[in-house]
Amino acid sequence: MKLICVENYEEMSSKAAQLVEQQIQRNDHSVLGLATGSTPLGLYEKLIQGVNERNISYKHIRTVNLDEYRGLSGDHPNSYRYFMNEKLFQHIDIMFENTYVPNGKAVPVEAECQRYEELIDKIGPPDLQILGMGMNGHIGFNEPGTPETSVTHCVQLEASTRNSNARFFSDRDEVPTHAITMGIQSILKSEQIVVLASGKNKAQAVKRFLEGRISTDFPASFLWEHNHVTLIVDKDAYSLV
Ligand code: GLP
Repeated sequence: MKLICVENYEEMSSKAAQLVEQQIQRNDHSVLGLATGSTPLGLYEKLIQGVNERNISYKHIRTVNLDEYRGLSGDHPNSYRYFMNEKLFQHIDIMFENTYVPNGKAVPVEAECQRYEELIDKIGPPDLQILGMGMNGHIGFNEPGTPETSVTHCVQLEASTRNSNARFFSDRDEVPTHAITMGIQSILKSEQIVVLASGKNKAQAVKRFLEGRISTDFPASFLWEHNHVTLIVDKDAYSLV
């Protein structure tokens, strides 16, 4: 585990963008694993700048996203597909058909999960996976208790996750109760994993993560079993360590 501690959110985003762009420069046909939430927003802004200012091209890049809310279609403003289109894809030269997000509306959901896991294997697991961390240590939507062997599956969201994501919805009751997420095993297939954490509200999770004790109670702890993980934290997120 490599730990990079930076001053603030801005620096965390720049450092992460640098790692992503280095990956693209090494291989312009890379597969990138992408995340949603507020944490990677700054990173996506930097990547958009990179296209305009550093001649980075996404023409041959493919992306797989970690998760999607169950029941929301891609054109719902709170869906993760919509988020990715708005915050990144429509601003870079990526081909829309090379971007993959689980289909939250697909029925039966089990078939969609299987299709998505097969897709990850087919296009190749990400060369670089970006991850945020939930306050309870979730990665993707793998809530505490998720087994290490899990592949893409449908989960019931914890009340704390629904509460913390309620800020994006007009009403707490509108937050979906379920989501489709890549599993722990699917995430660990990536070549390289970059975990981002910023702000005081992540300090407890970062502290627990850095204790290095692997446990299903804290899904991010499984990342300790991977041999190429970089954690980029800002001062506030690191403040309890
Ligand atoms: C969300 C997402 C995760 C994300 C995490 C943290 O529920 N499913 O992929 O990393 O929670 O979100 P945020 O970055 O907004 O704190």
